[in-house]
Amino acid sequence: MNKGLEGIVAASTAISRIDGINGRLYYQGLNIDDLAAHSTFEETTYLLWHGSLPTTEQLTAFTKTFIENRQLPYEILTLMMSMPKKTPPMEVLRTAVSALSTYDPDDLDNSVEANVNKSLRLTASMATIIAAWERIRNNQWPILPRTDLSHAANFLYMMTGKDPDPTAAKILDTCLILHADHGLNASTFVARCTASSLSDLHSAITAAIGSLKGPLHGGANEQVMRMLLEIGTTENAEKAVRAMLDAKQKIMGFGHRVYKADDPRAAWLQRLSHDLAMTVGPKQWYEISEIIRHVVQESKPLPVNVDFYSASVYYALGIPIDQFTPIFALSRVSGWTAHVLEQYSDNRIIRPESEYVGPENVSYVPLAQRG
Ligand code: COA
Repeated sequence: MNKGLEGIVAASTAISRIDGINGRLYYQGLNIDDLAAHSTFEETTYLLWHGSLPTTEQLTAFTKTFIENRQLPYEILTLMMSMPKKTPPMEVLRTAVSALSTYDPDDLDNSVEANVNKSLRLTASMATIIAAWERIRNNQWPILPRTDLSHAANFLYMMTGKDPDPTAAKILDTCLILHADHGLNASTFVARCTASSLSDLHSAITAAIGSLKGPLHGGANEQVMRMLLEIGTTENAEKAVRAMLDAKQKIMGFGHRVYKADDPRAAWLQRLSHDLAMTVGPKQWYEISEIIRHVVQESKPLPVNVDFYSASVYYALGIPIDQFTPIFALSRVSGWTAHVLEQYSDNRIIRPESEYVGPENVSYVPLAQRG
């Protein structure tokens, strides 16, 4: 038995490849470093869905359709407005995505074409859900998406109602590229399992959101920021981390099932965190992060993962902590949908076995005789 399915190959995929020994990540054969340096989230999404980078004409047409699908049905906004304001954003996202299927014109159609359209609508409109909830829970009206902004810039605009700073939009766009896909991680596996019963795409993405939410997966970025805030100062950092390690606590943002070297996405996020600390400030979250990393890696050979520096990056961008994981989902939906499309294209139900360790041959005792 391989606890946690460690080392088990459960799917063939052409979407992304992790080289865990050397700390590299590829989307459809392209190195993530090249994509982060030169691409956009829209172009990366096209790559994940279609297998190669788009031509200018293809990207123009794709972006136009993407933008046309940003708006939410009014009924979804009404549903969100009916939810308690204290509802965590990941729960709102999970519920709204599930409800969206009812309003999708291709609901009940599981053809390839319908699923490509659903993927596009979902990926485009999840940004609107996340931003709208930020407004709704703060007693503000949701803001309609704009048609002249990139996905990242429009998201920041819908969150704040202000023209987004181009540097902030570029940083968020890079974060979205970096988080878009990552092999058979827990949420992607969940999405593929759900799709493998030939359930619908919205069900697969709803299930994936539920999986991403956990602190051992996408929820770790929120926990990293809470740890940084709790530590508070650079002076406290070393002692606090040593105490956590001595208490055998897991340090969020470290460790990975596949990487033995540092996660290549963390290098990008570290740079972004550093640059934001030096330009926008305050410097302390980056500086505390550096101390934590030094102390952790000095005592254990744990790779730093994607969630560690994304926390201080999102915080510096002014994003509320409980919106960090929804932003992960905002990006990862492109990968999830790519995997669901791939699963449908060569499907066999995913049905592993379990090792039974319970009691055997137990006799049934009638209720009245049980003491
Ligand atoms: N802090 C301290 N120790 C850690 C650790 C961390 N973040 N991550 C793993 N370890 C240790 C474990 O305690 C275990 O030690 P042991 O062999 O002495 O018992 C060993 O490393 C293996 O860890 P394990 O939890 O079995 O690895 P996994 O492959 O099952 O889990 C993660 C991978 C990512 C879930 C795990 O590393 C973790 O919980 N990290 C923190 C959460 C996080 O950042 N998640 C985001 C992932 S992108």
